[in-house]
Amino acid sequence: MKRFSLTATAVLLCLFLIVPAVMAAKKPILIRFSHVVAENTPKGWAAKEFAARVDQELKGKVVVRVFANSQLYDDNQAVEALSAGFIEMIAPSSAKFVGSVPQLQIFDQPFLFPSVKACHDTIDGPIGQEIFGMLSKRGLKAIAFWDNGFKQFSNNIRPLIKPEDFKGVKFRIMSSDVLEAQMKTLTAVGLKLPFSEVYNALEQGVVDGQENTASNIYSKKFHEVQKYMTLSDHGYIGYLVTTSDAFWKKLPADIRTALERILKEVTLADRDKAMELNVKQLALIKEYAQRSGKLNIHTLTGAEKKVMQKALEPVHKMTPDIIPVSWIEQIYNMK
Ligand code: LMR
Repeated sequence: MKRFSLTATAVLLCLFLIVPAVMAAKKPILIRFSHVVAENTPKGWAAKEFAARVDQELKGKVVVRVFANSQLYDDNQAVEALSAGFIEMIAPSSAKFVGSVPQLQIFDQPFLFPSVKACHDTIDGPIGQEIFGMLSKRGLKAIAFWDNGFKQFSNNIRPLIKPEDFKGVKFRIMSSDVLEAQMKTLTAVGLKLPFSEVYNALEQGVVDGQENTASNIYSKKFHEVQKYMTLSDHGYIGYLVTTSDAFWKKLPADIRTALERILKEVTLADRDKAMELNVKQLALIKEYAQRSGKLNIHTLTGAEKKVMQKALEPVHKMTPDIIPVSWIEQIYNMK
């Protein structure tokens, strides 16, 4: 009896100690990737592609679950949720780091970057190095820089062709002080709202207009509640794929290397995809405008663009306490 109970105890001990250990060892690392846009956008596509590639290459070791459309967090909550460990990965536009690394608002500057390549060169160069250092001081680790593209204006008051046309128009803007300065300079009003609230705000007249990429406009149907659209390419939207230092350091080194490699490959593919989606979705907006007769689209001519550029140039040096003037000069020199 005594022998039996000793054996039973040993078996039970094994079950208690070994089985959970084996199960725990097999449990894949979970990466909850939260973002705010639709799936048929550059970021929506890249996040899904990243998840699929991780599934293919790190099966059983890492699982990426993507939560799109602000399902989990609005953009003004995402950085905090990441720092608190509620999610493991985010890719907010640079404007959304206003509370942690406001210097990232350099990417919100109107007509500063002559091309998407200039944005890449900035993040890959000395300015990017400084920014990564600032992120690290806030316990954040940026692993990749994904494109969306250039922004266009839309509104319900009048066609926006000259700086004077912006007078008094109320725009939804991202949570960026640079964008607020941009609107003030145009004598317009900028209202900071999360991306998830833009459609309703436009539909209900809380704001008259907004600025975003063709892909973000099309995928959220903003064009269906706007009368005028101006193709201006006046500012850029790109994303920092970010995790927390705490989460990143806990990962085994080989997993970190594999994730970095996969993200690098997805980033390269995203650059073409972002351009492709913006072109395709702008064509669909134009098709809608023609079919419905409810949206008037104006493309700024070269001369009109120059007037807008000149009007907005003072914004570049309006926030020297946030964005060093030397950074602005470096980007001018890139041109
Ligand atoms: C916006 O808020 O308009 C954009 O930052 C949304 C996004 O993530 O592209």
